[in-house]
Amino acid sequence: MSTAAHTPARHDSARAHVTGRAVYLDDMPEPPGLLHAALVLSPHPHARIVRMDLSAARAVPGVVAVTAADVPGVNDIAPIRTGEPALAEGVVEYVGHPVAAVAAPTLDAARAAAALVQVEYEVLPAVLDLQAALDQGLRVAPDQVVARGDVAGALEGAEHRIRGQVRCGGQDHFYLEGQIAIAVPGEDRDMQVFSSTQHPTEAQHGVAHVLGLPFAAVTVEVRRMGGAFGGKESQATIIAAIAALLAYHARRPVKLRLPRDVDMEATGKRHPFLIRWDAGCDAEGRILGLDLAFAADCGNVADLSPAVVSRALCHADNCYFLPAARFTGIPVKTNTVSNTAFRGFGAPQGMLAIEAVMDAIARHLGRTVEEVRRVNFYAAAPRNVTPYGQEVEDNIIPEVLARLEVEADLAGWRRAVAAFNGTSPVIRKGLATMPIKFGVSFNLTSLNQAGALVHVYTDGSVHLNHGGTEMGQGLFVKVAQVVADAFAIPLHHVRVSATSTGKVPNTSPTAASSGSDLNGMAALLAAQEIRGRMAQVAAAQFGVAVEEVAFADGHATAGNRSIAFGALAALAWQQRVPLSATGFYKTPKIHWDFATSTGRPFYYYTYGAAAAEVAVDTLTGELRVLRAQIVQDCGRSLNPAIDLGQVEGAFVQGMGWLTCEDLKWDAGGRLATRGPSTYKIPGSRDVPPDFRVHLFDRPNREETVLRSKAVGEPPLMLAISVWLAIRDAIASLPGDGPVLLDAPATPERVLAAVAVRRGGG
Ligand code: MTE
Ligand code: HPA
Ligand code: MOS
Repeated sequence: MSTAAHTPARHDSARAHVTGRAVYLDDMPEPPGLLHAALVLSPHPHARIVRMDLSAARAVPGVVAVTAADVPGVNDIAPIRTGEPALAEGVVEYVGHPVAAVAAPTLDAARAAAALVQVEYEVLPAVLDLQAALDQGLRVAPDQVVARGDVAGALEGAEHRIRGQVRCGGQDHFYLEGQIAIAVPGEDRDMQVFSSTQHPTEAQHGVAHVLGLPFAAVTVEVRRMGGAFGGKESQATIIAAIAALLAYHARRPVKLRLPRDVDMEATGKRHPFLIRWDAGCDAEGRILGLDLAFAADCGNVADLSPAVVSRALCHADNCYFLPAARFTGIPVKTNTVSNTAFRGFGAPQGMLAIEAVMDAIARHLGRTVEEVRRVNFYAAAPRNVTPYGQEVEDNIIPEVLARLEVEADLAGWRRAVAAFNGTSPVIRKGLATMPIKFGVSFNLTSLNQAGALVHVYTDGSVHLNHGGTEMGQGLFVKVAQVVADAFAIPLHHVRVSATSTGKVPNTSPTAASSGSDLNGMAALLAAQEIRGRMAQVAAAQFGVAVEEVAFADGHATAGNRSIAFGALAALAWQQRVPLSATGFYKTPKIHWDFATSTGRPFYYYTYGAAAAEVAVDTLTGELRVLRAQIVQDCGRSLNPAIDLGQVEGAFVQGMGWLTCEDLKWDAGGRLATRGPSTYKIPGSRDVPPDFRVHLFDRPNREETVLRSKAVGEPPLMLAISVWLAIRDAIASLPGDGPVLLDAPATPERVLAAVAVRRGGG
């Protein structure tokens, strides 16, 4: 057995990342004749485009300028619905909406020429506020309902009835590498596009649609992204399409790289949500009926919003059995940028909602949140079916929580926090836990497929390609480990290569945390195919049955016979045995009925638990996370070092969403927070100084690749422990007011909540 899989191998680009030698798109040698592009953005949140005059821009030598009128194909890059143009057509619907694009020999020249584009607008009424848009019935897609049981009856009959609401804000992806694409026209109208995208196939389709080309004429390639976090799942297509449109007209390569402020203004973010609940429970806090309404601020078009809302509804149960529940998802349209995928994909908002409900019930009954959760956890049948009908077959939350309780000494920790608060009237501490259950698989069943391409060369080195993209999450090293393991060769004999629609076609986005599940399995199947053929060659050579051939330590062996992997590859070539194979995988067992919002959307669930301690300054509203402790289920981890990094990174990114990342718009609908000076993401000093992460190392009960589990998104939701801990700190203050705290818990919101708690109104 090779030891490649399940070892903490370092990221294949770790050295290149820290030395700066990793090549991102903007570092690539520029092709001869390259033009640089700039966008012309709408200054209005809603307006009709009366007239556009590009003549002044076009009069500058070397400048190419385009609008929707210059699209030779179809100006639509919608990922789910239709009617979402790459360049605004007829109307603009948010401040920052791209209306034109300009390319010139230098970036400065492109920006100067963009300023010469004249656009005349007729300003129309704009709706910027989620509540106002909700009231006016503005939607980007139909409402969705996940429901089970007699909710009205359960609510009426319940001993306790609690209503409330909570809001959570959006979040900018703040990937270090902004959105970028380089389009290179080829022969015969072919177009090659280098795109920082999680979804090369969708970028390929978007470019082909806009240019009126067959998909086969467009090749999209990406070696790596400098972070994506969902922001490059659908919206990278806009950038690729505009770059390709400019390249098509210029007949030259074009690079479109958004500066940070333009990136923040023109591309979508996490959806802000307004959540209302009506809950009925018994004296112990057991939920009998729950009505939850989720209004999602989708911005101006649907983009991925229907799927985000759907995932919110399928995570509003979190770890709890709800005998009667009604979850309504309302995809609200506002005149703001179209919001999109962001790590968690609606699940964070869904879980925040149910945990706010748990918190409210606990305070109402004078019990601890942990007590209330305990009586509500999924358990044996019949308390093991989600509101959307999937059976929870793999529930390990009690064990995960039990491990956290012991490892963190929760009881002692709680006593220490209470003792501190006993002598500290101004700085108040809070402590809270957070369990999670996250469904793994795309909630659109058809996306759960992947392909891979593996070549073995005659020296025994291996070239690996698959449909997944690398955004820093370590997908490439994990899949390489799987392949090295299959061939029993050292990891460094496997070379990973750039993702390309020309090598593996019709791929899904690298998203829904399922990159290694899907591509790892496709690559494993390809490797097993080649290994089978090589085993035949070895068996003939050794004069044994093929079943007797084993691969171990860089050799094929049978009894006391052995041949090095490379020598066997050369021998196979001699005998004209093919050493290349494709692999294809589709996730089994899953199905989903859109009409009724029922089915088994997820192959399996992954679980986790966290505890966090915060200190809140009740005079300034400032806070710090002092300690966080986590137990995260990763199945049998493919790479514990990578997985640990994913857990830590996701948790801190979740802290950012819930504490300091605050998007602000001015009265005219323009995003006011367009850079790190006004938009605060967590820095190294916000990482909890005491931060302990342990993996819950148990094989997946489903037959995933080497029994691993997905890890990319779930731990982000563990940061809800921080938000709950802040509420706990506020609740520790003397007073009889409620704890009313929205997210993010910025100093302003914390101070307001402190005042309400103290009874100050
Ligand atoms: N980690 C890094 N370093 N950079 C990223 O952009 N994206 C996250 C997560 N971890 C991201 C990341 C998101 S949103 C997803 S869905 C998964 O990685 C995607 O990769 P995977 O499916 O291979 O886990
Ligand atoms: N996650 C991420 N992207 C998606 C999903 C999902 O569940 N469904 C469709 N696109
Ligand atoms: Mo991740 S939000 O599914 O790209």
